[in-house]
Amino acid sequence: MRKQPLNRFTLTFESRSANESFARLAASGFAAQLDPTVEELCDIKTAVSEAVTNCIVHAYPDGLGEIRLIGEIFAGGLVRFRVKDKGRGIEDIALAMQPLYSGLGGERAGLGFAVMESFCDRVSVRSKPGRGTCVTLEKQIQGKLVGGDG
Ligand SMILES: Nc1ncnc2c1ncn2[C@@H]1O[C@H](COP(=O)(O)OP(=O)(O)OP(=O)(O)O)[C@@H](O)[C@H]1O
Ligand SMILES: [Mg+2]
Repeated sequence: MRKQPLNRFTLTFESRSANESFARLAASGFAAQLDPTVEELCDIKTAVSEAVTNCIVHAYPDGLGEIRLIGEIFAGGLVRFRVKDKGRGIEDIALAMQPLYSGLGGERAGLGFAVMESFCDRVSVRSKPGRGTCVTLEKQIQGKLVGGDG
């Protein structure tokens, strides 16, 4: 049976670059209730920021679209974020996740997924070309691992 979150939010916003910092702050504000370290909060901000930037730049390259950020907290201090778009989707997810690969060639570093993976405990991607993409980021807040009620 799937674990129920202890707390959850959903935020829907337009794929404007101004909303990248909005999403990042919303994610860290939500995670703050787990009393993370400054470093853990920074990791969350960075990872969410990379995922949201990808929606802005790659999912909707020619205009505006909808981005949804969902945050969930689970018992024991696991925090999970989902970043969803209904944009162009990813043809080859394994290739897209390779460090230094960018669908935009030399225009970008191709390090977004590598950054997400290094700052999170788990990253998974689901995508359908022409339908959209969902990136799931999970991070265990360490101080909450043993004891406590999460
Ligand atoms: N939400 C998305 N929708 C469509 N394509 C995506 C999405 N996210 C990532 N991609 C594809 O995956 C590739 C790799 O993403 P990644 O974030 O690792 O690198 P990048 O965005 O190209 O460069 P960087 O993040 O370093 O600026 C992108 O170039 C793009 O082709
Ligand atoms: Mg990127």
